[in-house]
Amino acid sequence: MARHEELPVPIFTSLEPVYGTGSQLEEAELRFNQLKSEFIEFFGHSPDIYARSPGRVNLIGEHIDYEGYSVLPMAIRQDSIVAIRKHDVSEEKVIRIANVNSDKYSVCTYPADPDQEIDLKNHRWGHYFICGYKGFYEYAKSKAIDVGEPVGLDIVVDGIVPTGSGLSSSAALVCSSTIAIMAAFDVNFPKKELAQLTCECERHIGTQSGGMDQAISVMAQSGFAELIDFNPIRATDVQLPAGGTFVIAHSLAESQKAVTAATNYNNRVVECRLAAIILATKLGMKPQEAINTIKTLSDVEGLCVSFAASHGSSDPLLAIKEFLNEEPYSAEDIEKITEEKLEAIFANSPSSLDVLRAAKYFKLHQRAAHVYSEAKRVHSFKDTVSSNSSEEDMLKKLGNLMNDSHYSCSVLYECSCPELEELVKICRDNGAFGARLTGAGWGGCAVALVKENAVPQFILNLKEQFFQSRIDKGLINKKDLGLYVFASKPSSGAAIVKF
Ligand code: GLA
Repeated sequence: MARHEELPVPIFTSLEPVYGTGSQLEEAELRFNQLKSEFIEFFGHSPDIYARSPGRVNLIGEHIDYEGYSVLPMAIRQDSIVAIRKHDVSEEKVIRIANVNSDKYSVCTYPADPDQEIDLKNHRWGHYFICGYKGFYEYAKSKAIDVGEPVGLDIVVDGIVPTGSGLSSSAALVCSSTIAIMAAFDVNFPKKELAQLTCECERHIGTQSGGMDQAISVMAQSGFAELIDFNPIRATDVQLPAGGTFVIAHSLAESQKAVTAATNYNNRVVECRLAAIILATKLGMKPQEAINTIKTLSDVEGLCVSFAASHGSSDPLLAIKEFLNEEPYSAEDIEKITEEKLEAIFANSPSSLDVLRAAKYFKLHQRAAHVYSEAKRVHSFKDTVSSNSSEEDMLKKLGNLMNDSHYSCSVLYECSCPELEELVKICRDNGAFGARLTGAGWGGCAVALVKENAVPQFILNLKEQFFQSRIDKGLINKKDLGLYVFASKPSSGAAIVKF
């Protein structure tokens, strides 16, 4: 049997296979009905087809996907649904993107030109759809699939993944958009290719993200977390221990990955690349060869491991201790080693040049130490889940790995923030086996592993100890609390729905 990532996105004629039964199905029925009426009201037609793709919570493996390492996320129930109608060739060649939440997201209009440039200086929510649109055409072209001349599209979006939460609202939107476009053009690509293509096309927005968010959104299986490997993309089902539940809680600090890319997300990608080049050079490669061939820390891991082996160890961290200074590097310090200007090394990447302009110094030791240790924790997590330990032991070990991951993110990678630190501490003080920030960080959510039967009390305690003061200050509305703290089970991945 083909592995599930080799299969195309499933097409359903009803909602049960996607949303199961019970309250989740009822909620989905309401949303699809509302989406359809708004579509008709807006465009005067019914949509041809719908696509949905979920958000995700990353359980462990933070900021290592773009370095080539495996990660372990699960899909959440909150998703983005895109309703679409393709114009005839005789109709107007324009793309109109509306949102059921029209107060927050006004209609965006774009030309039906797959080669259009996305105006990054002027960030609009519709850009995420256009990423998918461009990606779809690029992919079809690369595979010599004839999808005909560009035509206009009518779109209405309904997204319930909270934005700026670290739960991948952007990937849910890009994936559901790309899949909707694909379905409207009557083609369907294998899930792993779609995961790759949606990851590449989200980079049109200017963040140099790895592929985790898109991969899990497209390839998730209900009831399982997934171990996602890269190069090539693969997803392996991971059965989580039944006695534990993951509770997701929002720190209420918004994490705006695309807006802060030059100082936060892309900065770390650049630092990792510089760390990798320096390690390669110190371990015997000529600087120019390192610059040309070493893109990520995983590219240089072999050299680090050989170095460790010659000192009786198998731990690549040994090479970091030996060859990367703990003190921050200035650009000049690095250029002495690389024998090349940083601007020249990153000349082909405008978003990396933005990083260089914004950065005062580079913390290479700390970033590399995070990446290698976090990559190891992902495998320990997977091994623990598949071990024969007692459930209690297993939950404790998983919790400890999550705590270590948080420490590394916070201290070495510096992608936490005071609100997340407070929230993670409250989670632990209230009996979580472990708690950590999830997603890119710098705001957004924490995820805590909690004993199944303790979840209701745990959530109540979080409400009292973290959220109440924020309600009192008017930061959030009491009636919306369910959006900010909830338990989550692994949900299903992307789907096309045609009634
Ligand atoms: C964002 C990116 C992912 C990943 C995480 C951090 O969500 O989109 O690719 O790098 O941050 O783990």
